[in-house]
Amino acid sequence: MPEDLRSLEAYQEGTDLYRLHFLEKTGSTNDVALSLAREGHPHGTVVIADAQERGRGRHGRRWFSPPGVNIYMSILLRPGTITFHPALVTLAAAAATVEAVNSRLLRRHPLPAAAAWSKWPNDIYCRDRKLGGILTEASTSGRTISSMVTGIGVNVNLEARNIPADFRHDTTSLHIETGEVIPRDEVIIKILDNFRKYYALLFEDPTALITLWCKISRTVGSYVKAVTPGGIVYGKALGIDGRGFLRLGKDNGEEITLGTAEIILLRNDA
Ligand code: BTN
Repeated sequence: MPEDLRSLEAYQEGTDLYRLHFLEKTGSTNDVALSLAREGHPHGTVVIADAQERGRGRHGRRWFSPPGVNIYMSILLRPGTITFHPALVTLAAAAATVEAVNSRLLRRHPLPAAAAWSKWPNDIYCRDRKLGGILTEASTSGRTISSMVTGIGVNVNLEARNIPADFRHDTTSLHIETGEVIPRDEVIIKILDNFRKYYALLFEDPTALITLWCKISRTVGSYVKAVTPGGIVYGKALGIDGRGFLRLGKDNGEEITLGTAEIILLRNDA
């Protein structure tokens, strides 16, 4: 176990929910968690890797996953019958992650400009650069979900000079933002503790979770370009509906709802 993940051993002893599996290197922690799901591992199983060889993001994009510096973690969930839309799990994980990293970022730079924020549906940003992301994968049949995996990637101690040229212009890390070397275990434990709370909230009051996510997001209120499977649309992000979908007010006055899209924030009119 790397030095800056050591306190996960004590965390494991004290938690009744999570079962942590640590791997030095793997293809993708999401794949490992999905395969543990097929083997019958329980709700709360967590796979953490020091490096990924085939880390992936949304739309099959590569997720840069060098050893020893970042967080690559996947949580196996067995929600059973749900009353909320499964897309909300991504928002719960994003809120948990933003809140965890902000407790670090804002300790050093207590200004709102230094805070991390979430861009719908799954991105974690700091300033205008990507700090992390969430990739939730599930096989659902109706309202019953026997297993789903939410994967969380956060750039922690990644140094600017080690970011591949094609990512450099829009990638950051907690180290780049704070100038500090940050123990990964501290951030992981905060994410897991927050996620436990927010996941529970999905069952109790999904609207409260959406409200909470809107507070840490800079999407709602912005004028955006949305790249959707059906083409590009421009409009104002009006809010998030009960399914976690984005409500967009188009220039012609029409309101549409997007289940998936790539959002580019153009202006904040809020
Ligand atoms: C995105 O921004 O498109 C999502 C990135 C998700 C990356 C994490 S790292 C842990 C887990 N394993 C993966 O292969 N992907 C997710």
